[in-house]
Amino acid sequence: MVWEKVLEKFKEIFGSEGEIGVYFAPGRVNMIGEHTDYNGGHVFPCALTIGTYGVARRRDDQKLRFYSMNFDHLGVIESSVEHLTPEKEADWTNYPKGVIWAFGEKGMKVEQGMDLVLFGNIPNGSGLSSSASVEVLTGFILRDMFGFDVTNQDLALIGQYSENNFNGVNCGIMDQFAIAMGKQGHAIFLDTATLKYEYAPIKLENAKIVISCSNKKRGLGDSKYNERRAECERALAMLQETVNINSLGALTWDEFEQYKDVIQDDICRKRAKHAVYENQRTIQAVEDLKNNNLADFGQLMNESHVSLRDDYEVTGIELDTLVEEAWKIDGVIGSRMTGAGFGGCTVSIVKNEAVDQFIEKVGSAYKDKIGYAADFYVVEIGDGPVRLA
Ligand code: GLA
Repeated sequence: MVWEKVLEKFKEIFGSEGEIGVYFAPGRVNMIGEHTDYNGGHVFPCALTIGTYGVARRRDDQKLRFYSMNFDHLGVIESSVEHLTPEKEADWTNYPKGVIWAFGEKGMKVEQGMDLVLFGNIPNGSGLSSSASVEVLTGFILRDMFGFDVTNQDLALIGQYSENNFNGVNCGIMDQFAIAMGKQGHAIFLDTATLKYEYAPIKLENAKIVISCSNKKRGLGDSKYNERRAECERALAMLQETVNINSLGALTWDEFEQYKDVIQDDICRKRAKHAVYENQRTIQAVEDLKNNNLADFGQLMNESHVSLRDDYEVTGIELDTLVEEAWKIDGVIGSRMTGAGFGGCTVSIVKNEAVDQFIEKVGSAYKDKIGYAADFYVVEIGDGPVRLA
């Protein structure tokens, strides 16, 4: 069991006395609906069975002592519930610190510190939301440890709040929501304008979900992410001079085509086009899935990628290579980049009998073209956060 190793590490570093809790929060993959969540559109993500394990114990003083088995070389990083500000030297611990800070901002001040050891089996920087997983996990631990009266949906919102206001990434709600609300075997059809959601079963008897990880680190991704968001806001402001809407997600295809010329900036118009079309694709894709029409669902995944490549411009040669090589393989039902883009990974639905060939062929074509290897994961859809022991 993975968690037993994390518990062992905790005891080795912090000792074995007192009440120690063992927790898990998943990572997530988005099937379709990309860059729609901060545009008031729909998303369709699911939680995975890989994620972040955490072992924690409350302290009597104000100290925070954090250790990650993914960054052994950093050792124990200390801070305090009395000094919650983002610091470069705090490295990854800015995520749990941010959540503790966000609880305080929401009127739930954390008065005591904790010892915490984390281990994530989500590939780092892969775009499967390792940071949102740490955020939701931290919130879940705080609720368990201090008895705060918050729902899982609140944990998602607090996680997003901390990421926006403590860690400076203007992300939408998708990642934290998918993680906090995850349900085994189901994806979550979420309307980000209202937070109304519905679980849709993903029944893949003859196929698997394969994640192809480009191993290209995001690097400048976060600033580009904020830039895309700002471009969509500019497009919306121009549209609002003519149409009465609160978000790009409120427009249909036809309405967008009717009004698009009021967006007097080619780049902003392309970004808005993606946001509107992707939202409509997502609504259609869920309909297709409900009708057991996996082929059409896959086709919409492919169209999503093209739009992210050509109109939203967040793919890059690594993700394009993974997807274009995937499309060449018989037995691939759909393939697209997933997450923020600019590196990270792709998601593909692959028929069982084609999975080995997929990994071999896409892998070798990628290595030839890009010069380093991609990694492949056949994943399962799992539940939201849990306490394991
Ligand atoms: C990142 C963000 C999400 C979402 C996706 C793009 O994962 O954290 O809120 O915007 O990018 O769909």
